Amino acid sequence: MYLSDIDKRMYYGERGLAHQFSMQILVRLGEIYGAKRMVPIKSAHVGCVYPQFGAAIEIMKKIDDMKGKFCVYTSANPILNPINFNKWNELNEPLKLQKLAKKQIAYVLKMGVVPVWTCTPYFEGNLPNYGEIISWEESSAVIFANSVLGARTNRTTMGVDIASSIVGRAPEYGLLLHKNRKANISIKLNFEPKKLFEYGTLGYTIGKLCGGKVPVIENLPESTNVNHLKVLGASMATKGGISIFHAVGITPEARTKEEAFQNNKPEFEHIITQKDIKDSIIELNTAKSKKIDAIVIGCPHAGIDEIKELAILLNGKKINKDLYFCIFSSERTIELAKKMELIKIIKKSGAKIFPGSCLVSQSTKLWGWKSVATNSAKYALTLPLKPNELDVYYTDLEECIDLAVN
Ligand code: F3S
Repeated sequence: MYLSDIDKRMYYGERGLAHQFSMQILVRLGEIYGAKRMVPIKSAHVGCVYPQFGAAIEIMKKIDDMKGKFCVYTSANPILNPINFNKWNELNEPLKLQKLAKKQIAYVLKMGVVPVWTCTPYFEGNLPNYGEIISWEESSAVIFANSVLGARTNRTTMGVDIASSIVGRAPEYGLLLHKNRKANISIKLNFEPKKLFEYGTLGYTIGKLCGGKVPVIENLPESTNVNHLKVLGASMATKGGISIFHAVGITPEARTKEEAFQNNKPEFEHIITQKDIKDSIIELNTAKSKKIDAIVIGCPHAGIDEIKELAILLNGKKINKDLYFCIFSSERTIELAKKMELIKIIKKSGAKIFPGSCLVSQSTKLWGWKSVATNSAKYALTLPLKPNELDVYYTDLEECIDLAVN
């Protein structure tokens, strides 16, 4: 791989051990993927959601020992947030996990992270421009950045994201190259998604049909907004390992169908009908009954309009005492919602709102949870897996609330 003078100085240790270690990781990665050179990045988004993963903590510790600092704007994913420890005494985390999470947080803070602790960093100041090269972790944020913003990132892993941010560079391969961003599958809709839940189900359906490919959706409704695109991409990425999609007339690299396909022909076409969506809802339901321990909302993190909708739907209602109603969002969105007096309404109903966290890193088994309801297709895909192993009742927000108050 070609290395510029600056790259070489970092690689051979002239800029210190942290740069050298990070460049060695990135050069090795570039060689594996056939990158021809290193390119500068504008921002990074690092993963912190799993303190259970020892390897990530080891890399953080090593880079911290070498006094490494992030050199580009670097935000971070949700964490096992100490703000949440002890919030509900009965839902506490094991001490060992708390310690690991605190260590992880301390490392990235020392390196200079912007502590937004969210999987929607684009709503919290990490907003790359069209065409900018970035190095992001978190599949839902990666697909949003590539597809909706037109920024360029591969789906990096914990450790690689940190190395990239230390040196401000990434090996140029995959979705950093224009040719790899071209659509190859055509998706037409024979139904009109309206609710977030329907967009999430659509993303799952596309992920199922187009795993690893680049789909272009030809007729999303004009009413499609950024939150719809957020959940659409999140479930597409989780189900199909997809890191970029195009939507004609909506996403920036698909002003026309021809532009999205870079003047090539689609490998195949799919028409998605209401029946496909119904089938997907059945597949995403793993719960045997509607008897649930909790309702979990906010995957990806709930935006301000979702919190507003929740406040409207929960206004004047009381959550049943024998279940938990959990909403996950970012600290800054929650602050905003407080100013709008939405949190007051939500709390009065008995629902809880958690800043900067995510259920997938929590000890739900220890709490005795067996089954949850959610309107998030991504949660419906991830929560049945380890470490949570929960049964999931997947439905729209209105039914989630009905289940919680009846
Ligand atoms: Fe975010 Fe956790 Fe969902 S990181 S996308 S809330 S699984």
